[in-house]
Amino acid sequence: MKALVLSGGTGSRLRPLTYTTAKQLIPVANVPILFHGLRAIASAGITHVGIVVGDTRDRIMAAVGDGSDLGLQVTYLPQEAPRGLAHAVQIAEEFIAGEPFLMYLGDNLLQQGVASLVTGFGDGQANAVILLTKVPDPRRFGVAELVGNRVARLVEKPLHPTSNLALVGVYLFDRHIFQAVRRIRPSPRGELEITDAIQNLIDTGHRVESRLVQGWWKDTGTPEDVLDANRLLLENLESGVFGLVDDSSVLRGPVLVAEGADIRRSVIHGPAILGSGCRVKDSYIGPYTSLDKNVVVHSSQIEGSVVLEEAKVLNLQSPLAGSLIGRSAVIGHANDRPRAWKLILGDGSRVALP
Ligand code: TTP
Repeated sequence: MKALVLSGGTGSRLRPLTYTTAKQLIPVANVPILFHGLRAIASAGITHVGIVVGDTRDRIMAAVGDGSDLGLQVTYLPQEAPRGLAHAVQIAEEFIAGEPFLMYLGDNLLQQGVASLVTGFGDGQANAVILLTKVPDPRRFGVAELVGNRVARLVEKPLHPTSNLALVGVYLFDRHIFQAVRRIRPSPRGELEITDAIQNLIDTGHRVESRLVQGWWKDTGTPEDVLDANRLLLENLESGVFGLVDDSSVLRGPVLVAEGADIRRSVIHGPAILGSGCRVKDSYIGPYTSLDKNVVVHSSQIEGSVVLEEAKVLNLQSPLAGSLIGRSAVIGHANDRPRAWKLILGDGSRVALP
């Protein structure tokens, strides 16, 4: 079996971070989102992976390389524009070469991984398997109607949902999906929709089955989703101190301090992860915080936040919470007059003042 990982797209909901990086490379628990998925694929015993890339291809390619560090053989499949998930399938036809395959959205995280899902696919009757999860508000998702575990109908963002079973961004297909993609037309938003292609499989007499997700699933499309994903991953953090923590500092709960990090006169209340080269001084780092490489925090309090490489948080009078801070951003306290917020923000930035 092969895997097809979708890492193109626009990432508009994660601007301004996605002006300079791919959303799939935003780190959660200090590991890029995409790498969590690629590791799950490798653990399932799949080695041949096609990664669909768009405008951010250079960054994805620089981060993943040939995949050998992850035990994978990666082929890059450029998509000239984000024309939809089914379009991504279409451009992968030659790479897949008739094999059954796992399709994985590169910004999705699954607690259970994919090993149990892929087992046995291709031996049975199913032409496709979709993964479902129960959601409180199905109107925001693609929703499945089932007869037993067989899928009878899929509806994209239904106004009046007839089930609470939403599609998760992980699918199994055999070669019939390519014909289905050829039979569908772009949706009103101009994309070739994977739900239309799967519905076409059903309408043409193919067997589409479903499985319920065990454990949590997270689509990291928005900043809030990224913070949620970080929280979920840190729940299982194992403590370890590989950097320097001075005698005046206190670590509580699960805290991972990477090699080369330097913590002085601070309280770190886990779960929290401090990447290599982090320098934390006279500060409080609260639960569910991930500081990536070389982040500097001086005389400040942070909790429930994700801070990317090289960012600096300096002398804040109020705690920083629920924040997603981009690479090399600087947040500091202004001492000069007038006493006002002084902001230099990228397009599409969001600031919530207390
Ligand atoms: P989405 O989150 O649906 O789309 P997006 O990345 O364009 O985000 P936004 O709505 O914020 O602008 O995409 C799900 C995943 O599939 C994500 O990893 C990007 C990828 N993708 C492609 O590779 N090609 C495509 O044509 C589309 C639509 C998405």
